Amino acid sequence: MVDTPLVLGIESSCDETGVAIVHGTTVLANEVASSVELHARFGGVVPEVASRAHLEAIVPCLRRALATSKVSLAEIDAVAVTAGPGLMGALVVGVSAAKALSVALNKPLYGVNHLVGHVAVSIIENGPLPSPTLALLVSGGHTSLLLIRDITSDITEVGSTIDDAAGEAYDKVARLLGLSYPGGPVIDKLAATGNPTAIHFPRGLTAQRDMERHRFDFSFSGLKTAVARWVETERRAGHEIPVADVCASFQEAVADVLTAKTVAAAKAYRVRNVVLGGGVAANSRLRSLLEERCHAAGLRLRYPSPALCTDNGVMVAVLGAAMVSAGLPPSPLTLGADSGLPVETPLVG
Ligand code: KG4
Ligand code: ZN
Repeated sequence: MVDTPLVLGIESSCDETGVAIVHGTTVLANEVASSVELHARFGGVVPEVASRAHLEAIVPCLRRALATSKVSLAEIDAVAVTAGPGLMGALVVGVSAAKALSVALNKPLYGVNHLVGHVAVSIIENGPLPSPTLALLVSGGHTSLLLIRDITSDITEVGSTIDDAAGEAYDKVARLLGLSYPGGPVIDKLAATGNPTAIHFPRGLTAQRDMERHRFDFSFSGLKTAVARWVETERRAGHEIPVADVCASFQEAVADVLTAKTVAAAKAYRVRNVVLGGGVAANSRLRSLLEERCHAAGLRLRYPSPALCTDNGVMVAVLGAAMVSAGLPPSPLTLGADSGLPVETPLVG
């Protein structure tokens, strides 16, 4: 068992190619190449375009990571890679590269879960996760509440979205407002100049009748439709769309539901520690409202700095390092990419 293993982490589940090197919980290199600009004109990620971009970026990213960290491949203790969930063709690029490195270097291979990586990345700035911790995971494709007793081996999903993910809602609303892709950062910025109480948009699955079956679940598709209807009605009436107010009001609805359910779940499961993770965790309003509500409820909150919230190799490397430190057996060399890897499976055995 190595306490501070030197781990190479590879991420390629969506539109960011990430290669990082960590020494235990210290980041030695964090290289990210994004293909987001190639997808922007389509208003969403085009899987084939993403796969090709990963192929082109992965070796240069690896070279840069080795150069910045001044680490040689021979010194690496283990190779960690996102095995899923994500786009199949994109995942395969990272998994193949990681397997090749593992064989060539004769070093253990850890196929880890991308979503769990989004939570694990907070270890870099805030140290080991207290047990138990409640995680609010909000990314482009997933929205879940996770009860985590051990990030390497004991994760229970206590709630998730029944339709769109939070990030997906941001991307779709941005599209209908004619804003650029990805929608999150643009809406976040515009919302800062708008009035969050200008329009009251619905808070999905918060009505009394939903509490029994969906107490800790989320729904954002009704919210997206409500924004679309509101905008359409205003356009038909010939009114100019107050884009900043729409953004601020939409963002307030998202942040309100996410934070209210997180605090309620923490209370119900008697958990005092909360962690925020995933691309949407970079959202300024979500961070401030969650901080406010956690503070009021006596909960301790941690969240990664914005640059570590979106996809990167560090989240993979640090989760891999945690697996090595826990003495867990590595993944077999038959490891495959699993586009639907469940969030409760942190490591593919
Ligand atoms: O976790 P991530 O980088 O990729 C996935 O694993 O899906 O998340 C990407 C999502 C996108 O939907 C993007 O619009 C959203 O995160 N996002 C944000 C912000 N930055 C990125 N959403 C809201 N506010 C932001 N500042
Ligand atoms: Zn992600």
